[in-house]
Amino acid sequence: MASAQWPCLLLVLSSGLVASGFQKSPSRSLGKRSLSEGVVKGIEVYSTKISCKVTSRFAHNIVTTRAVNRADTSKEVSFDVELPKTAFITNFTLTIDGVTYPGNVKEKEVAKKQYEKAVSQGKTAGLVKASGRKLEKFTVSVNVAAGSKVTFELTYEELLKRHKGKYEMFLKVQPKQLVKHFEIEADIFEPQGISSLDAEASFITNDLLGSALTKSFSGKKGHVSFKPSLDQQRSCPTCTDSLLNGDFTITYDVNRESPANVQIVNGYFVHFFAPQGLPVVPKNVVFVIDVSGSMYGRKMEQTKDALLRILEDMSEEDYLNFILFSGHVTTWKDSLVRATPENIQEARAFVKSIKDQGMTNINDGLLRGISMLNKAREERRVPERSTSIVIMLTDGDANVGESRPEKIQENVRNAIGGKFPLYNLGFGNNLNYNFLESMALENHGLARRIYEDSDAHLQLQGFYEEVANPLLTGVEVEYPKNDILDLTQNAYQHLYDGSEIVVAGRLVDQDVNSFKADVKGHGAINDLTFTEEVDMSEMEKARREQDYIFGNYIERLWAYLTIEQLLEKRKKAHGEEKENLTAQALDLSLKYHFVTPLTSMVVTKPEDSEDQTAIADKPGEGPVDAVTPSSVYLTSYQPPQTPYYYVDGDPHFIIQVPEKGDAICFNIDEAPGTVLRLIQDPVTGLTVNGQIIGEKRDSPDSKATKTYFGKVGIARAPMDLRIEVTPEKVALWNGAAQSTFSWLDTVTITQEGLSVRINRKENMVVSFGDGVTFVVVLHQVWKKHPVHQDFLGFYVADSRQMSAQTHGLLGQFFHPFDFKVSDVHPGSDPTKPDATMVVKNHRLTVTRGSQKDYRKDVGTGTKVACWFVHNNGQGLIDGVHTDYIVPDLF
Ligand SMILES: *[C@@H]1O[C@H](CO)[C@@H](O)[C@H](O)[C@H]1NC(C)=O
Ligand SMILES: *[C@@H]1O[C@H](CO)[C@@H](O)[C@H](O)[C@H]1NC(C)=O
Repeated sequence: MASAQWPCLLLVLSSGLVASGFQKSPSRSLGKRSLSEGVVKGIEVYSTKISCKVTSRFAHNIVTTRAVNRADTSKEVSFDVELPKTAFITNFTLTIDGVTYPGNVKEKEVAKKQYEKAVSQGKTAGLVKASGRKLEKFTVSVNVAAGSKVTFELTYEELLKRHKGKYEMFLKVQPKQLVKHFEIEADIFEPQGISSLDAEASFITNDLLGSALTKSFSGKKGHVSFKPSLDQQRSCPTCTDSLLNGDFTITYDVNRESPANVQIVNGYFVHFFAPQGLPVVPKNVVFVIDVSGSMYGRKMEQTKDALLRILEDMSEEDYLNFILFSGHVTTWKDSLVRATPENIQEARAFVKSIKDQGMTNINDGLLRGISMLNKAREERRVPERSTSIVIMLTDGDANVGESRPEKIQENVRNAIGGKFPLYNLGFGNNLNYNFLESMALENHGLARRIYEDSDAHLQLQGFYEEVANPLLTGVEVEYPKNDILDLTQNAYQHLYDGSEIVVAGRLVDQDVNSFKADVKGHGAINDLTFTEEVDMSEMEKARREQDYIFGNYIERLWAYLTIEQLLEKRKKAHGEEKENLTAQALDLSLKYHFVTPLTSMVVTKPEDSEDQTAIADKPGEGPVDAVTPSSVYLTSYQPPQTPYYYVDGDPHFIIQVPEKGDAICFNIDEAPGTVLRLIQDPVTGLTVNGQIIGEKRDSPDSKATKTYFGKVGIARAPMDLRIEVTPEKVALWNGAAQSTFSWLDTVTITQEGLSVRINRKENMVVSFGDGVTFVVVLHQVWKKHPVHQDFLGFYVADSRQMSAQTHGLLGQFFHPFDFKVSDVHPGSDPTKPDATMVVKNHRLTVTRGSQKDYRKDVGTGTKVACWFVHNNGQGLIDGVHTDYIVPDLF
């Protein structure tokens, strides 16, 4: 989870119509059912449809409810929808007897006046209120004449954020009466392809109702439909009340073959980034825990329970400590200790012994924790490449020591100095959440409210899981400076496993041919740069495919993200800066029709202007659940000078002898599975081995079967480093820590004495400092080819720093050697003359031929003429070829 990732994208919507017996009656008794089925108090809700269209994580949801007044007097009809706090309402329309009253987004102050006027005149108005942990409730009521029909249509949009490896859409379903046509329909389109999709509802407990739910996905499209019949909706076979009451959740994830995805439509771009296969960066965690008197009882038990579970999940690479604060501060250890099994055992005993007592000194608790982390870093007690975090939990406001919120914020800001994030967990409602949030945000962290409930320990543990696995730190996403405008946040302190960084912006020139983005970050072992290059003509093709969903979704996604980030910045800003941020956010909210904390939606019945006004409003500054991390980087690889040694194809070894301006080549015929030693240098500790693969299908004549290299292993013993390359992926081990990259990544990995660059679907360039560079070329064949399969070529581009003792099928030729060719004469193949070669004191018959060098162009290659040595290079190589067979790749 990235530091900023919130629990998810909860799209909760509860949709329902409630009929009340009398106009403006505040109480709506639902107990009595009308005799006529599906009609409650004269109002029949005959259709409710929730339609969700998601394109590239951007969700566009429409809730439509239709009702008719079957009574012989006018009735008030209410429409309630619960939607996620992170969503913005974008439209609301009311249609009465075929006349539509559209909603308009207005600045809040302006709308408020109209709203107050409407209410004071006893007119109907709608309002959105916070509801539950993640929801807001939209409610509106209108008066409907006898026999009239009314349709409510609410639209809201939201960017689904990735949380613990998936996107989640949460719909609250609560129709409150049987509805003839009840339907939830979700269409998901993801350009990266959908890898998993699920949908479930808390109220589906039997197979009968389950049969109303269908879910499917294939390629880039996913579909979920829930369409219970009237009978399926009944809470019992003879009941007239609805079983549908609860949460409907859709979760999915996309393919992660490539870490990044860029989409560009109409001059706006969005860039998603979530790498896979990287080792976790070790972390130094200080838990700053409130043990004041108010934590007494269940809260303390739940906190301890959560801490015990968190201890179980700690990695041995991590460091930790506990700081307890009440009126004064105590610590478990004087400094951070490593999470060894013994220390974890001791920590468990410590946690169990925690007792509540006294007052709340947040300031001193936090400062102690921060200084401990700073000191551990200064004294190099924690690993160089580790990352630090402070997790503070409190259930109340500071009331002893420094208790002024602004002063505490200032102290904490100065102590942390931007070096690591602070996460504030506010337990319960009896605290100043805005203070906790603002303090966390200005220290690159975030705040989370822990609801006092039976699952509080799970909420705490769940939060920890989100931040437990940082994959990259200091993440920065870079684009060519002069090509883009209006970029959203592009630097993040952490990228957590299971999260995703999203950056959006605008292109200066819509007609550019290509677009490039780099994500740079520090990993557990090395520095990484992921490069994404987009071909605009391919983008155009892809765009046409997606258009069917909704047109300018990237521009709206950009606006959504920009407003969200402006509102967040506004929380920690003051004075003129705050006014400026407010003005920018307001402008965009009005321009894009978003109901944000700065705007309201007003619906007015046109003919008698303010007769009927409904207002959709966003509640005040409650906990805001959305910050997105983001970032990426790339460089371009220039093929180095002509290689002198390589092996490619059916393994054809090519040795160029620059002094002669000529080359020698030979084949090795060995069975699939055989591992051959290509290079071994006892001085530098470098070894390269290659494993042979055959064709997909054995040829009846085994001699004629072609063989290739299907696996290349590069190891450098003194660095405890191994790189295993296959046509599927590249795996890199530093000791036991493994990073994996797919050939769909363009990525640069740098660490002391090593640089690796994977050029997407082409090659991998490995350099060990100056003077040793290898290139592994990827040959991809048509996937359904009946015979051939993907294979690898290995090229030595630079071997200057390899020692004179280097050996192996290629390595033995790194030292200068001489050969003489004479007596060129026609051979058995008239196009290929034979000759006599004297080399290494042997006299050999060789044949003129040619091989290909695929390093520059993996498609067609470049022809290289060479003298072919028969019989597995016998006479040319030292010893015989079987001397080079080794048992394993490493
Ligand atoms: C709001 O919804 C109505 C009805 O679907 C539609 O006609 C109108 O164009 C929408 N307004 C905006 C701004 O999207
Ligand atoms: C507001 O921000 C814009 C853009 O950064 C800047 O040009 C303008 O001067 C700022 N205005 C104020 C009042 O700070």
